[in-house]
Amino acid sequence: MKFLVINGPNLNMLGLREPSIYGERSYKALVELIETVCRDEEIQVEVFQSNHEGAIVDKIQAAYGVFDGIIINPAAYTHTSVAILDALKAVSIPAVEVHISDVSTRESFRQVSYAGMACIKTYMGHGFEGYAMAIRYLKGYLSK
Ligand code: DQA
Repeated sequence: MKFLVINGPNLNMLGLREPSIYGERSYKALVELIETVCRDEEIQVEVFQSNHEGAIVDKIQAAYGVFDGIIINPAAYTHTSVAILDALKAVSIPAVEVHISDVSTRESFRQVSYAGMACIKTYMGHGFEGYAMAIRYLKGYLSK
């Protein structure tokens, strides 16, 4: 089983960025957690981060026929990007949405998730652990 994990803008700044919301652990620590969980679950994984919407669209398109599942935290593009939603729909790869913070309790502009409309499940407010939950859920879903 092969998963692609996509992280959107400013997630490379984890640790520095608003630690009261996103925690004090770095992006490198997040990548290590994802790789450890995938190793334990016997899943091959590629972790991709970009601050650019088009690069994320390109990566989703290139995943077609290569990856079995996608875990995506589109970050701020969650709330704006119909292009990312359309790309996920175009490739039809089962996808799970993750947010480190609980966006449902935050500003009103964070209350819409376009990408989430193409995802089979969303984890929010579980910190980095949300990625582990998403990986295990997607593995279970694809193993059925
Ligand atoms: C986020 C929540 C988004 O609203 C925000 O723009 C982010 C991170 C999260 O993981 O909690 O950049 O996706």
